[in-house]
Amino acid sequence: MAFVERVFSGVQPTGNLHLGNYLGAIVNFVKMQETHNCIYCVVDMHAITMPTDVWGGPTGLPRATREVTAAFIAAGIDPKKHIVFNQSQVSGHAELAWIFNCVARIGWLNRMTQFKEKAGKDRENASVGLYDYPVLMAADILLYRATHVPVGEDQKQHLELARDIAQKFNNDFGDSIRSNGFGDGLFFPQPEPFITGPATRVMSLRDGTKKMSKSDASDYSRINLTDDADMIAQKIRKAKTDPEPLPTEEKGLETRPEADNLVGIYAALSNRSKAEVLREFGGGQFSSFKNALVELCVAKLAPIAADMKRLTADPGYVDSVLIDGAERATAIAAETMAMTRDIVGFIRKR
Ligand code: TYM
Repeated sequence: MAFVERVFSGVQPTGNLHLGNYLGAIVNFVKMQETHNCIYCVVDMHAITMPTDVWGGPTGLPRATREVTAAFIAAGIDPKKHIVFNQSQVSGHAELAWIFNCVARIGWLNRMTQFKEKAGKDRENASVGLYDYPVLMAADILLYRATHVPVGEDQKQHLELARDIAQKFNNDFGDSIRSNGFGDGLFFPQPEPFITGPATRVMSLRDGTKKMSKSDASDYSRINLTDDADMIAQKIRKAKTDPEPLPTEEKGLETRPEADNLVGIYAALSNRSKAEVLREFGGGQFSSFKNALVELCVAKLAPIAADMKRLTADPGYVDSVLIDGAERATAIAAETMAMTRDIVGFIRKR
């Protein structure tokens, strides 16, 4: 079966959207609008897998959901041409996740490294939702039978799981897929991760061996999308570096994680390769490179922060975008769910 090319991706509304989210994912969301039909989702059902203080509870969640939506629009996503919505408005995500729970194997989930990181030492006390998170993520993508998924590198393993679930569903229900006339046994596509660019894994500004993350206790470890020009400048000036001048070639970055990270950020923001950036700055001191990086970051991010501020001041507009997007997403999701029910053998009203 030939699948229509469709993009799906999601971002959690857990506060502190940062440069890693922007360069690793959102920049590619914006680019893919030119070539694909895109669905971008604020995954509020994923957010609640963590303890309430992480996602802000029932009063913090709507604010965080609107903030991610505002970031999408401020970064250049067009919610009229494409679909922007919050996950909980489309019930198919939870329904398909249940069916996939019965397809995925416990052994597959036991291998997920992000669960181990997020659950920490107190694994017995983690929510069942956190453990099951990658199955819901597979349902998000496959509910729209999406073929391409732009994400940062940390989501690669989850994408592999989604591919395994799609394949096992197609195998387990192959006869039913054919007898229902839904194709030659390939009902769900194998979604392709789209992990590309010089900043697929942006690292902490305080420690080049740790990922830039929303949950890092130090705000100086990340540049938030809501930071103003002064804050961006302070954070970059304080960013950890080493005493050597910048190398002239990319291989000189291999053992220098902080330098590698800052050069990667510069490259991604200026749409150049790391090699090109080093051709300009290689051999020079960090201080002058940092000045150029501050200028570039402020030029690229300050307009986004200003637009986010404007949009979040108008929650009525943001909510109307999410409601309109959810209606259009539901139309696609309902089709997949009706066919999936037939394939599994659930009786339904016709
Ligand atoms: P989330 O909300 O943690 O992150 C959103 C996106 O940002 C990327 N990202 C990074 N990229 C580069 N460097 C970093 N330091 C960095 N930190 C985060 C993430 O890879 C992600 O692309 N499970 C997903 C949300 C999700 C989803 C989906 C994604 C739910 N369902 C379906 C794709 C398809 C997550 O927690 O992303």
